Amino acid sequence: VAMNMGMHEPHGHAATASAAPPRSVTTLTGGPLDGPVHHVDLTAEEHPARLTGGATVDAWTFGGGLPGDPIRVRQGDVVEVTMANHLPATSTTIHWHGIDVPNAEDGVAGVTQDAVRPGGSFTYRFRAHQAGTFWYHSHEISHEQVSRGLFGLLVVDPAGGATADMDDAVLVHRWHTDRGEKLAFGADDGVRLRQVRPGNRVRLRVVNADNDTHQVEVTGATWRLAALDGQDLNAPGPLGDEVVPLGGGGRADVELTMPDRPVRLSLAGESGPAYVLSPDGRSTVDAAAPGPELDLMTYGRPAPTPFGLGGRFDRDETVDLDQGWWFHGGSFGFVWTMNGQVFPDVPMLTAREGDLVRVTFRHHGRFDHPMHLHGHRVLLLARDGEPARGSPLWLDTVLVRSGETVTVGFRADNPGIWMDHCHDLTHSAAGMTMHLAYE
Ligand code: C2O
Ligand code: CU
Repeated sequence: VAMNMGMHEPHGHAATASAAPPRSVTTLTGGPLDGPVHHVDLTAEEHPARLTGGATVDAWTFGGGLPGDPIRVRQGDVVEVTMANHLPATSTTIHWHGIDVPNAEDGVAGVTQDAVRPGGSFTYRFRAHQAGTFWYHSHEISHEQVSRGLFGLLVVDPAGGATADMDDAVLVHRWHTDRGEKLAFGADDGVRLRQVRPGNRVRLRVVNADNDTHQVEVTGATWRLAALDGQDLNAPGPLGDEVVPLGGGGRADVELTMPDRPVRLSLAGESGPAYVLSPDGRSTVDAAAPGPELDLMTYGRPAPTPFGLGGRFDRDETVDLDQGWWFHGGSFGFVWTMNGQVFPDVPMLTAREGDLVRVTFRHHGRFDHPMHLHGHRVLLLARDGEPARGSPLWLDTVLVRSGETVTVGFRADNPGIWMDHCHDLTHSAAGMTMHLAYE
């Protein structure tokens, strides 16, 4: 791959010996951007912060809050974010999780840019083509930096405007505080109470900014799972006590019409944070006993997709996910392997621009692996040999659980070098990271 990453020249001259059309540097930088610009300044800074329950966090933040400043733009906008690094001694970057930006804007330190040093700054520019719920986070030593707070919400409203009367987000995160670990919705480790008028249409965007899988639960109303990973589902049916599994990095949008009694969104099996919608802004409701897990493979209605499980693929890859041990200096720990190797020794996936690629993940070990591919959305094709029969699920973070075999497909339509890694960031840091490289 001939690339000059980090350069922003309008005209590249990439010589090519093959029959493929020459690829210029503009493919990796996205080329010129015109139209309305949504500019945001984000300052990475060390900032002690407090959860609503009183525990304090030695936080690193984008903008001083927990989590970082939310970014909300309209589909089609040019998003321009200048990040200034005021952290005392740590370099950082920003990755736009789930947005298929040009490679040069992807924010992966050491791959698409150098990390921004203390005192430095970097401006990201991309067009927000996709509407939906996304998030942004540091991609430099991310298992530590995200854990300390270097992340925030990114919502892209549809070009036609948002339709809900009440639209809010909760970012699930586990903070390391002076009083131990606290699971919270943003900085709320207790109950967040909001007054909502009965009859109002509500959209709640749940972002799993934690390493663990959580089960989203709604008590007190009929609801729908409107979107996963920022992509609206087709004809999602009404739900009651079902819970929705959401792996680290994933997003689930909950939609409901406000009844005349309180509604609670919480995480099944977790006593910590809850989000309560209440007609009078005071009364609350307890979580009900969680019901069965929603079968995402059959939820919603099928709709045409540009390719399917049985079609012809240009590349067919299998990625074995497993774990191993390392011993060093008398201590030991886990490593997380892909095809038997630990990053940076994991062989790359390769593709040519335009290829249809099928990837089958086989999970041999324990613990969940939410597999995140940068720069592309993948279509969930099958799980454990069962073809997907519900709404097409276009995901950027695919939860693969112990013993499962999960097959996804995607069109290689965004040239560059892209990470494909587990979004349990401790697993990613300890081996479970590979790259997709365009030939
Ligand atoms: Cu949300 Cu490579 O990360
Ligand atoms: Cu993992």
